[in-house]
Amino acid sequence: MSNALLAVVPPSRPVPSLADDVRAGLLSVPRELPPKYFYDDRGSALFEAICETPEYYPTRAEKALIAAHATEVIEASQPQFIIELGSGVASKIGPLFAACAALDLPTVYCPFDVCEAVLIKTAALLSGQFSSLEVRPLQGDFTAGLEHLPRLPGRTLYMFLGGTIGNFTDPAAIALLSEIRAMMGPEDRLLLGADRVKDAAKLNAAYNDAAGYTAAFNLNVLSVLNQAVDADFELDKFSHRAFYNQREAQIEMHLESLVEQSVTLGGLGQSLQLASGETIRTEISRKFSSQSIASLLSAAGFQIEQHHSGPEGEFSLLLASPADA
Ligand code: SAH
Ligand code: AVI
Repeated sequence: MSNALLAVVPPSRPVPSLADDVRAGLLSVPRELPPKYFYDDRGSALFEAICETPEYYPTRAEKALIAAHATEVIEASQPQFIIELGSGVASKIGPLFAACAALDLPTVYCPFDVCEAVLIKTAALLSGQFSSLEVRPLQGDFTAGLEHLPRLPGRTLYMFLGGTIGNFTDPAAIALLSEIRAMMGPEDRLLLGADRVKDAAKLNAAYNDAAGYTAAFNLNVLSVLNQAVDADFELDKFSHRAFYNQREAQIEMHLESLVEQSVTLGGLGQSLQLASGETIRTEISRKFSSQSIASLLSAAGFQIEQHHSGPEGEFSLLLASPADA
């Protein structure tokens, strides 16, 4: 479906299709899927519900940091444009726009997301809340290269919030941050949100909410595959498993097969044999120390200008600039 509101950002390099990812990720062991497939309309709505649960602290922690430091961030970055990668419904960033307005900065906001539904919702919500804000939604895959993002004629604040950087392995995170870095001029800035290492019980609870939204979000990826590659996953034959892997400092989300089963992947002309208890890893969510997040930024060519993490260091909000600028 095309939508006149949205500009599509074409990939700047070939990326595997969903069918390629299913073939490569599910038909060999260890079984794994990229997390971008969570976010169809239902998955995005479930993610919003997760953010409201009492257990999922990252959204509230980051929202509080943004509210407390919006003026400092905007004064230091003076953006004429804001591009947010993986914006979701942009529910936390109102204070940044208010700070832009207070400084009389006529800022243009470009949410960039793979999910069309969240972009339409974001544009409607923000246009209602901030009448002078221009919203230019961009739809595309940020793992497909950033070269075709619009070239913006002014100081730009790139934002990558929510801890989504933690959904990448170290090399992939450095590669993505380096691509952002390559887009930036000396006056541009990056605002990055990263979740922090903490008590395992708190981490485990955040990914196993009592209301079951995280479980539904995880299982929903099987419905996405049923539609996209004509598969016949039966969701009640799988169970959500999420646990903190202390050694790797990451939450791992898996779908565990509850029985021995064969799943037909009609669109691929293949079938998938799963033993009882076998799992498909659907996401990693890495948790950082202040050192490990600083090293990541440094490896991607950034220097940190501000690092806010609140009294308990629950979450990090970092403003960074190009290191050699
Ligand atoms: N930034 C928001 C949303 C985080 S959820 C917050 O902090 O709450 C992750 C968001 O990234 C979702 O909206 C999802 O649709 C988007 N996303 C995930 N993978 C993506 C990809 N490869 N390209 C573009 N957007 C992606
Ligand atoms: C988008 N991302 C940062 C979330 C996270 O916490 O890793 C996705 C999520 N998965 C389960 N709950 C939330």
